[in-house]
Amino acid sequence: MPDPRMRAWRVTRLGEPADALTLDELDVPVPGPGEVLVRTRAVAANFPDVLLCRGEYQVKPELPFVPGIELVGDVAGLGEGVTGLRVGERVLGSKIGVLSEYAVLPAADLWPAPAGLDDAAAAGLTVAYQTAWFALHRRARLQAGEWVLVHAAAGGVGLAAVQLAVAAGARVIGVVGSPAKAEVARTAGAEVVLVRGADDIVAGVKTATAGHGADVVFDPVGGDAFTASTKCIAFEGRLVVVGFAGGTIPAVPAGHVLVKNYSVIGLHWGMYPGIRPDIVDQARAELTQLADAGGIRPVVDHIVPFADAPQALTALAGGGTVGRVVVQVAS
Ligand SMILES: NC(=O)c1ccc[n+]([C@@H]2O[C@H](COP(=O)([O-])OP(=O)(O)OC[C@H]3O[C@@H](n4cnc5c(N)ncnc54)[C@H](OP(=O)(O)O)[C@@H]3O)[C@@H](O)[C@H]2O)c1
Repeated sequence: MPDPRMRAWRVTRLGEPADALTLDELDVPVPGPGEVLVRTRAVAANFPDVLLCRGEYQVKPELPFVPGIELVGDVAGLGEGVTGLRVGERVLGSKIGVLSEYAVLPAADLWPAPAGLDDAAAAGLTVAYQTAWFALHRRARLQAGEWVLVHAAAGGVGLAAVQLAVAAGARVIGVVGSPAKAEVARTAGAEVVLVRGADDIVAGVKTATAGHGADVVFDPVGGDAFTASTKCIAFEGRLVVVGFAGGTIPAVPAGHVLVKNYSVIGLHWGMYPGIRPDIVDQARAELTQLADAGGIRPVVDHIVPFADAPQALTALAGGGTVGRVVVQVAS
């Protein structure tokens, strides 16, 4: 039986992570029917956690609430009717409210952690890699040999998109914010890397593709990144809107979309588990296979202890991190 009390980080007022979060002691939650109690090992920080602290995320939980949207941990208890999972099994899962020593998640939101990944790497396999997988494969229908333009190619979802596009046989052009990040994107498999603010993105993409343009654009940044993408996207290209880390939500230029024959496609991964769990199962199976075969590997920028969790979110908010920042909760 777990201790009856646990520590959890809670957003008690909206603002930047360092101001918004307090470390509280709470009762360990009890799993209801169809739910599972998980003892948290590690939580990967995501940009949506920063937005949750600020009150700018599309979901706005009532204060106070526990942030954290993905974890790796051990099954510590099963609610009524849960089958297919056993106590002690190492699992991955996603739900708002996991930045705590224990969390309850619906059984359907959990999947076995690939044995080949340690806790820090495994913690980041759910949200970023499934977001990238759904964007590239489900929404953009990426084909081998196509050119993919990935913005923020050294960030959490961006690096996952680079690795998955390369694994699918596509050719990747990455855009990053600094020369140091360029090296990371290259190591992940980007053939061409352009540095935001230093290189001309539109000209760089046209040169790299011999005038063809990007068949698929993966855009977690928005603003100028979106606008540049519309100017170097290929005939029948697919521009996937993933996020707005740059802070500006662009307007879709419908006339330009028509004239240039391209598509602007939205991706909200969080809707898939509830509406198309069958495709989530497919994504999980493919990601597990790729992780076990070494075809993908979450990159960990740094690990912070649980007591310093706000530092992880502050680092993400600053935009300077590479891959994932992980909060180690227990070992
Ligand atoms: N659609 C979905 O289902 C879904 C799921 C998960 C995440 N997202 C979204 O995807 C985006 C990226 O999330 P993430 O977890 O990968 O975050 P991340 O690791 O922090 O990556 C964001 C990157 O965006 C770039 N960036 C450009 N302008 C920025 C600015 N003003 N402030 C901060 N970063 C800036 C930075 O890379 P450079 O310095 O290289 O430009 C930064 O590393 C977020 O908008 C998030 O909400 C969407």
